[in-house]
Amino acid sequence: MKLKKTFAAATMLAGTMTALSFMSAGAAQAQGELVMYCGVQEEWCRAMTTAFERETGIKVSMTRKSAGEVYAQVKAEAANPRADIWWGGTGDPHMQAAEEGLTVEYKSPKMSELQDWAVRQWEQSKQRTVGIYSGALGFGYNTDLAKSNNIAEPKCWADLLKAEFKDEVQVADPNSSGTAYTLLATIVQIMGEDKGFEYLKALHKNVNQYTKSGAAPAKAMALGETTAGIAFMHDIVTMVVDKAPVKVVAPCEGTGYEIGSMSIIKGAKNMDNAKKFYDWALTADAQKLGADAKSYQVPSNKSTPIPPQSPKLSDIKLINFDFAKYGSSAERRRLLSKWDNEVKNLPK
Ligand code: G6P
Repeated sequence: MKLKKTFAAATMLAGTMTALSFMSAGAAQAQGELVMYCGVQEEWCRAMTTAFERETGIKVSMTRKSAGEVYAQVKAEAANPRADIWWGGTGDPHMQAAEEGLTVEYKSPKMSELQDWAVRQWEQSKQRTVGIYSGALGFGYNTDLAKSNNIAEPKCWADLLKAEFKDEVQVADPNSSGTAYTLLATIVQIMGEDKGFEYLKALHKNVNQYTKSGAAPAKAMALGETTAGIAFMHDIVTMVVDKAPVKVVAPCEGTGYEIGSMSIIKGAKNMDNAKKFYDWALTADAQKLGADAKSYQVPSNKSTPIPPQSPKLSDIKLINFDFAKYGSSAERRRLLSKWDNEVKNLPK
């Protein structure tokens, strides 16, 4: 009898729990979901995903990929898009996607809160991509390795060509990585195309590996796997903050920079949620999550404090980077295939 009662109570409880879990699944379903391709460091991607889910109840399915890879995937999926929002990564592939009609125009009510450079990116792309952060390109070196190999402190792009850096420089492949494409476009803008390609060919002799992701050389440098690494300066700062024996260099000839961007995918299945994320990602509070995740870019919302660890853009000799030209479909395609033909396949 007692057993029977307990069983009945347990059945009732189970019934109630099932009903409750149906209700909460229903609530989650009502909020729906969002598929995001994320172009920054994994830690920041995850922090954004969790905070947005907590705030809205929208379930986010996030994949981290390098900028060139996201562009290629969005293009391949154009007939039946899987993703709704592309958040982060260098601006050039976002610009290319905008030009090719893979992303849509959107004017967020948050536009008035943004820095001019972020708004300019939006205007130049005919409202199809917006700036969410900025950061300068540079390189770094492992001070322990430099000391033990008797290598003098490198200060300029030209120093990375020295014989002492043979097989000691790491950089990403510009086809997959927006960081490495920024290097390609930067060198061409500083030196002119002919001299620029001569530089990249000479650099090739010293490169030990072309990685897939742009920040990988910063990590390899911190682990002592390469003496020098080319990356965004803020990615190298993250290693310094984590106490790696690494020094950040702003190259003496000057350097390029990125406008990390965000775009809504054309034909997004969760269009309303994509816009909700877009508006939220431009808020001062959401942009603070970067520094918390040890990502030290300059945020695009004017009210988000610039993290004290961020390389000071005003102290760096920045070139007048032509984002419209180097983000154009024809130019990006041309430069990448030239790099494949003339640099990547060169024997060492
Ligand atoms: C890192 C940087 C970002 C940059 C991104 C590009 O995550 O912190 O500022 O936009 O790299 O990644 P990729 O792998 O395409 O070079």
